[in-house]
Amino acid sequence: MKFIPIRLKIIKPSKKREFDIYIMEKTKPVLLLDKNLPLDENSPILEYNSNFIAFIPETQLKEFKDFVSKNLDDILNDSSISKRNKMYAMYVSMINNMEALVNTRNLNLYSKVTKDVSKFIAQTINDSMTVSIMLSFIRNDSYNLAIHMFNVGVYASMLTKKLHPELSIKKMEEISKGYFLHDIGMLKIDKKIVAKRSKYTEEEYNEIKKHPEYGVKILRNELKIFSPIMEKIILEHHERKDGSGYPYGKTEINEFARICSMADIFDAITSQREYKENLPKTTFEALKEEKDFFIREFGKNRYETFIKCFYIPMK
Ligand SMILES: [Fe+2]
Ligand SMILES: [Fe+2]
Repeated sequence: MKFIPIRLKIIKPSKKREFDIYIMEKTKPVLLLDKNLPLDENSPILEYNSNFIAFIPETQLKEFKDFVSKNLDDILNDSSISKRNKMYAMYVSMINNMEALVNTRNLNLYSKVTKDVSKFIAQTINDSMTVSIMLSFIRNDSYNLAIHMFNVGVYASMLTKKLHPELSIKKMEEISKGYFLHDIGMLKIDKKIVAKRSKYTEEEYNEIKKHPEYGVKILRNELKIFSPIMEKIILEHHERKDGSGYPYGKTEINEFARICSMADIFDAITSQREYKENLPKTTFEALKEEKDFFIREFGKNRYETFIKCFYIPMK
């Protein structure tokens, strides 16, 4: 059986669980609590420190993620839970809901994702420490649409906050929803193409290029959401300043679509995709080696501000 590490401290004693909790003794998993047993208020395991890592069987991962999504509000409002553990719960929930939306293509799940985005903004907007904790959870190991949209959402939101500190929370939320869902149009593209592990054929690439327009259609016609700013982000995030982008080859591009585009490219450079000949770059390598490209495409101010987003605040 394979085991997945989890942060034990986000699990409250009174909550019903549908997953077993294990600890590792040396390298051997030992069952600590069966899923049918409540976590007793006096259990010695509650004395483990806030960073304590427990394990769950991989087969119960879905139950664990659903538990976190369901209890996210309680976790975020619990003053006994550390900031890092709260952000971990937020991360687990966001990826969980995003993956459910991407995998099932059930648009009813859209509101679960956007509710998470609102919570994400409320938690991180004025706290650079929570942003850097969130950044530390970013995974770039494999290409996965849900993880990609999450990563771009985090990068682009933090860059927006730095470039446009005057924006209200409400506006920030709306813009961030556009970032976290910028590739929602991919849900209209053949799953085989989206999941493809080798290079696209020309025909497939032409299909991929339709995702910005599909995205706007989903937003307007199916979700009945009318947000000019979200539409711009979804529609223009592949446009390039010199007109070489798609779908229209525009040269005048919306500011927030530009920010999304920068985050999108950055995530692509730092993520592994199997057909890529080169290894993915680290954050540092991507920012250093692609400096000329980023400055040429997005300007010095956006590039330098983006670098500052990765500074770790000292406390
Ligand atoms: Fe895209
Ligand atoms: Fe993207």
